[in-house]
Amino acid sequence: MDTDAPGTDRPTVTMAPLAMPAQGRPATEVASELASMRTGDLDWRGGRSFSLVYNPDDDELEELLERVGASFLHENGLNPFKYPSLARIESEVVAAAMSLFHTSPKAGSVTSGGTESLFLAVYTAREHARSERGVTNPTVVAADTVHPAVAKACHYLGMELITTGHRDDLRADPEAMAAAMDDRTALVVGSAPCYPFGVVDPIPEIAALAASRGVLCHVDACLGGWMLPWMERLGREVPPWDFRVEGVTSLSADIHKYGYAFKGVSTIAYRDPAMVRRQWFLYDNWPGGLYGSPTTAGTRPAAAHGRSVGGHQLSR
Ligand SMILES: Cc1ncc(COP(=O)(O)O)c(C=O)c1O
Repeated sequence: MDTDAPGTDRPTVTMAPLAMPAQGRPATEVASELASMRTGDLDWRGGRSFSLVYNPDDDELEELLERVGASFLHENGLNPFKYPSLARIESEVVAAAMSLFHTSPKAGSVTSGGTESLFLAVYTAREHARSERGVTNPTVVAADTVHPAVAKACHYLGMELITTGHRDDLRADPEAMAAAMDDRTALVVGSAPCYPFGVVDPIPEIAALAASRGVLCHVDACLGGWMLPWMERLGREVPPWDFRVEGVTSLSADIHKYGYAFKGVSTIAYRDPAMVRRQWFLYDNWPGGLYGSPTTAGTRPAAAHGRSVGGHQLSR
């Protein structure tokens, strides 16, 4: 919530004086003060925390997540060479995700959340448009129902987001998207499903539109990516949304939503495994040695993912 936005009620916060305490306090006192601060917090087990906490209501899973989290609390995903366990867990998570989305086992990465996955999709599209098509001021085209994280990525990356209206059935309108595309278009985005209405956009039409113009097509399945595969297995009718759709080039899917991990873990996937390399950042002009990272973070918590090999500090 933007608490500074006009008309937004600011939460009431009672704060102690803003200064570093002169002395330490007993751990039990600190713990009990923290517990008392939480009395006004949303009760996420109460069933009204949609989009903040995805609660599987499964005690065994909750206990396992807490055990895994606690056991990796101090590790740093920055350097996979120091933590072979994290490197292995990440590659297994990526391979499992890629098989769910129907692409090749190494064609993706684990990220910290939907916003980072979308950022990387927009970034790789910008780089692709620049290097493959010579587009100097690339744009992104999406329906107005697309998640604001796409607008945020465009803002950070100096790209223009062109939004089009949605149809009466609340889905993206491919005809309107076609009309908004031009030589500058680097990426078109469809959602599976979109957050505001929970409906899956017509991905085959959007992807065909993109492919016919040599443009990349991202499916934002942050919400549905770890749910739709199981709905399909249960025999429910699921509209086409993943890499089985011709023309889909990247896809984001959050494990910390319906994958039921705790916060800080999502996946970004590509059709072409070579696209993953466009995410990488390598820097060799540093007395500290060669520095490289495949996603945006440097130091990364291992706990949230039960893995996390985000930044790769290649040498010291
Ligand atoms: C469809 C969709 N995309 C992206 C996001 C952003 O994900 P995150 O909040 O994990 O960054 C969300 C979050 O609800 C979402 O529903």
